[in-house]
Amino acid sequence: MYSKIIGTGSYLPAKALTNFDLEKFVDTSNDWIVSRSGIHQRHIAADDEVTSDLALHASRRAIEAAGISPDEIDLIIVATTCPDKMFPSTACILQDKLGIKSGGAAFDMQAVCGGFVYALNTADLYIRGGQAKTALVVGAEIMTRMLDWKDRTTCVLFGDGAGAVVLRASEEPGILAGKLHSDGQHHALLRVDGSVRDGVVQGDPFIRMEGQAVFKFAVTVLHRVVDEVLKMSGLKDTDIDWLVPHQANIRIIEATAKKLGMSMDKVVVTVENHGNTSSASIPLALDAAVRDGRIKAGQTVLLEAIGGGFTWGAVLLKW
Ligand code: UT7
Repeated sequence: MYSKIIGTGSYLPAKALTNFDLEKFVDTSNDWIVSRSGIHQRHIAADDEVTSDLALHASRRAIEAAGISPDEIDLIIVATTCPDKMFPSTACILQDKLGIKSGGAAFDMQAVCGGFVYALNTADLYIRGGQAKTALVVGAEIMTRMLDWKDRTTCVLFGDGAGAVVLRASEEPGILAGKLHSDGQHHALLRVDGSVRDGVVQGDPFIRMEGQAVFKFAVTVLHRVVDEVLKMSGLKDTDIDWLVPHQANIRIIEATAKKLGMSMDKVVVTVENHGNTSSASIPLALDAAVRDGRIKAGQTVLLEAIGGGFTWGAVLLKW
């Protein structure tokens, strides 16, 4: 038994904030942002939007593409760093917004930018273990609400968005291999320290990052985990038709592709359009490449990501 993606969907809030817009209130420049990150703009959720709303739009599109009824979904995993509330989970709220009453499991997955590969790998294990047949796997984030707009080293990099896939039990090969890692020794390098105690926010509620250290670690570990999933599946790097990486920074993406010996025309890049949307970035990029016809049936697709924790992982699949 395998699990296979049968539908994808994504959603970006309507309001786009370009680098030129940022230049007006942040000590930065379009040239710096583009040359260091590849980002041209990011999207900002409307004041009345919450993460489950973004997840809902993306999920409806994925469910429509899959041609299923929401009631067939017996597992929902929402990868998010920006839950609607402390509890219940955004996944339970999404389940309600989708009108699903079947009572399958629904939970959030917190692995920051690694969240989507964590969630997809987990859903695959649920399906192959016989605990679910049809899973909705979502990455949804409103990162801009955790930005300190006075900290130019972080505020120019992040954006809001959501992406979703429907994963279903299948006799045909779909997900071929997945591998997850974490190393908590590095938790201080990328973090939001704040928490709530007695109704008051304690500590710094904004994203803080040691950018260069994150960059170096990312480039070191990402190709290693790719080697692991290739070994697990018995495939070679030359068998990969498409790399769909976490969209944080074009330079990390290029460095990883180079280490894998892949030319950039086999890499799906959307970071210029939405910045780092954390766990939403892989399903956003995947949906773009599926809908514009680049990713075709039978092709081999590699997903990889790294995020705060650090958490990182890869999933290799047959489309
Ligand atoms: O999902 C994982 C999430 N995180 C990442 O992927 C981030 C990984 N790291 C990076 O992508 C890069 O380290 C950054 C894009 C964050 C920064 O690029 P960098 O080449 O490592 O720049 P830097 O931190 O070494 O800073 C270079 C200069 C500094 O000025 P001085 O000290 O050389 O005078 C910074 O103050 O650039 C300055 N700087 C800026 N200038 C204009 C930092 N941020 C900005 C800015 N605009 N927004």
